Amino acid sequence: MADLTVRKVKFEFPDELDDVLPGVDPVGESYLVAFSLTMPYLEPYLIRTYRSILDDITDEALAADVRDFIGQEAQHFQNHRRINTIIKGQLGDDVADELQVFEDRLDADYRRFNAERSRRFNLVYAEGFEAMTCAMAMTMFDDAAAGEGMGADGRFGPWQQLWAWHAAEEIEHRTVAFNVYEHLEGNWAYRATGALRAQGHFHRAVDNMQRVLLASQGEPRKHHVPPWLRNGRSRYLRTFRPGYDPGALEQNPLVDTILAGYAA
Ligand SMILES: [Fe+2]
Ligand SMILES: [Fe+2]
Repeated sequence: MADLTVRKVKFEFPDELDDVLPGVDPVGESYLVAFSLTMPYLEPYLIRTYRSILDDITDEALAADVRDFIGQEAQHFQNHRRINTIIKGQLGDDVADELQVFEDRLDADYRRFNAERSRRFNLVYAEGFEAMTCAMAMTMFDDAAAGEGMGADGRFGPWQQLWAWHAAEEIEHRTVAFNVYEHLEGNWAYRATGALRAQGHFHRAVDNMQRVLLASQGEPRKHHVPPWLRNGRSRYLRTFRPGYDPGALEQNPLVDTILAGYAA
């Protein structure tokens, strides 16, 4: 049992955010904004997926973890949705309209996946996403502990706090999607190929939106490899091994420090 805590968190975001796209690292900044823009579609998709299979889970402790996982993801996307609205307001109507096309497309994809695709397809999508975000989150914390990335410029504003809280909870609930997949499906080859396909699908949406964001900042509208892969590549690649076990991963002590700041 993962012993998860559902923390009800409502960030206070100022109307004038100055730490979202400060222009210090346009590629890294636009990646995080694009990622945030997917959250109000991706996380509700995960929630719908797990709600639909809860009755199939015969392990009561795992079912309890799934309910807590749903509770955490619901908190995440609501905070992202609120800050996304502020960010798009700052970017202006034309940029927001361009982004909305990709948001609507992603939402339609996820609704279609729930309506038309198999349990196995949706569970491997969820696990592929969760394995990837766990690698990303763990890399972000290791970078922060080494004085890079989050908080490196001496600021730790609401945007960075949102990401730190979200990344910490992604690490906290890292075993749930994996354990559900193993409990109900459990085929390694399908996990590896399905995860790759899911991550490709997700990152195409991120990439499309990142290009819009880069152009809005006067940068070339180019494809970029996800910035966290620079330091997180081997950790990410290990998620595809047959013996991958997210429960055995060591988390950075900063994760508990961050989580201690948020009450249940
Ligand atoms: Fe999340
Ligand atoms: Fe998650």
